[in-house]
Amino acid sequence: MSITIKNEAEVAAMRLAGRLASEVLDFIGPHVKHGVTTGELDTLCHQYMVEVQQTIPAPLNYAPPGYRPFPKSICTSVNHQICHGIPGDKVLKNGDVLNIDITVIKDGFHGDTSRMFFVGEPSIAARRLCEVTFESMWLGIDQVKPGATIGDIGHAIQRHAEGVGFSIVREFCGHGIGRRFHEDPQILHYGRPATGERLLPGMIFTIEPMVNAGRREIREMSDGWTIVTRDHSLSAQWEHTVLVTDSGHEVLTMSAACPARPTPLPAAA
Ligand code: MF3
Ligand code: CO
Ligand code: CO
Repeated sequence: MSITIKNEAEVAAMRLAGRLASEVLDFIGPHVKHGVTTGELDTLCHQYMVEVQQTIPAPLNYAPPGYRPFPKSICTSVNHQICHGIPGDKVLKNGDVLNIDITVIKDGFHGDTSRMFFVGEPSIAARRLCEVTFESMWLGIDQVKPGATIGDIGHAIQRHAEGVGFSIVREFCGHGIGRRFHEDPQILHYGRPATGERLLPGMIFTIEPMVNAGRREIREMSDGWTIVTRDHSLSAQWEHTVLVTDSGHEVLTMSAACPARPTPLPAAA
């Protein structure tokens, strides 16, 4: 497999898919409240995608090699769950923090984005973890321009998260995206500057750091999908889909209610 360079028509289709994915998060935000189940959030998102947007929820029945088909339309990862949480009868309660990860397919192209949500008031520690993870993602996005390397992205993310004493999950990474959900290249969320593949205009990939408050080690649950922190510490993740342009980058997964890029970005630790 090699890295695909998108032409103008493909970029236009990816812009639409990206915005629609982000709009699902705009839609579901107000429903994230004490007492709702993750399964109910899944049902609401599924209906919104299929009936309102006429998009296809890419996670549903997604089965990469070695995995059983994912049984739901979104991923909900609560507290110490890192990623790929399967929605179900878990009731959200005040103080929970969760990642909702949405991937839609529109006209054959994928848009992939995730955000953190608070149920009621989070602890100061949880708020800080989510904030630093958000800043780390944006520091990574900020590196994206022709001639920069994948290592530049990973380094910027790692420096910030580890600089405040958090850890970066190594087993999962960002990815090229387009007609396929997961394409080359892999975008590691750690690394050394000026190493790895050089970025070219027309590349599209996700940046989606997973940051743990404690140690970086993970465990996979017996459902075959849900990934949790081995030490049960809190974990956070944010994700955008990003296009390399001639002069820099364009974030494709923005929408009306999407949290804005932090200004200014925190200085390097
Ligand atoms: N959306 C996830 C990502 O960012 C992948 C989820 S795969 C699923 O790459 F099957 F769990 F949905
Ligand atoms: Co992704
Ligand atoms: Co995703």
